[in-house]
Amino acid sequence: MIGVFDSGFGGLTVLDALIERLPRHDFLYLSDNARAPYGARSPEVVQRFTLEAVEWLFEQGCPLVVLACNTASARALRTIQLKHLPRHRADRRVLGVVRPSAEALAGLPPGTIPGLTPPSQIDGIVAVLGTETTISSDAYGIELRKLAPRLRLIQQSCPLWVPLVEAGETEGPGTEWFLHRYLDPLLERPDPPRRILLGCTHYPLLLDGIRRIVPPGIEVLAQGGLVAERLADWLRRHPEMDVRLGKEGRRRFATTDDPAWFASNAARFLKHPVEAFQAHLKYYEKGHWE
Ligand code: DGL
Repeated sequence: MIGVFDSGFGGLTVLDALIERLPRHDFLYLSDNARAPYGARSPEVVQRFTLEAVEWLFEQGCPLVVLACNTASARALRTIQLKHLPRHRADRRVLGVVRPSAEALAGLPPGTIPGLTPPSQIDGIVAVLGTETTISSDAYGIELRKLAPRLRLIQQSCPLWVPLVEAGETEGPGTEWFLHRYLDPLLERPDPPRRILLGCTHYPLLLDGIRRIVPPGIEVLAQGGLVAERLADWLRRHPEMDVRLGKEGRRRFATTDDPAWFASNAARFLKHPVEAFQAHLKYYEKGHWE
């Protein structure tokens, strides 16, 4: 199975697109609802929670894990890729959503190879919206400076959007007020961005309201489709991983909270019913994996 991890329900917007793009592949979705949201947590805690989730997915038999959470990708992916996997799990791979989304934000096609593809000379202004932790990590800035150093990036954290989505408040005057609160500063600039990335997996649930506010000349990018396209491309370039993945079209859902509660809420994100089972993540003391 391909393991797909998010702090909560938001990653289901990515899973939906992955299933559409790779319908034969088997997926196991893990949602750490008991500890969500991650967006305002410290980098150390996000790293530990993410590692615990990734290890759980490995133990369930996933050779490949996708962090379908910007906060986890921004704060934990590099450490997992550079330290954890080479030392402890050399046969497994973990991918995130920041790199593929930064490629799309720069207008680059899938398949840019870090270190091999020359930086793009494209210029202009683009923006990313995300949680406080994602924005303060500067993960998008770091990727864009490598991919397209002449592009200017505006970063805006939207700390109240995830709670609105989790509470099911995706429409109405109150929600609209909070959409304006974070979009207006971008749109009222003398030099507004030409493309805005929704750099949080919860935000596509607010897409209708966002599109009503953002003028048609500014492109709004949601992550599901672009991450799915780039994962399909990555699998084409890594057949040694693709042959290890089950392709019976199975989908399983696990949560660290109550499975029945997860199933009733997940329907809002997936538009079809699911069954979930309980995930008991192991707690790892600091230094356990050193
Ligand atoms: N889904 C997470 C992301 O993409 C945000 C939710 C949270 O704060 O846990 O950043």
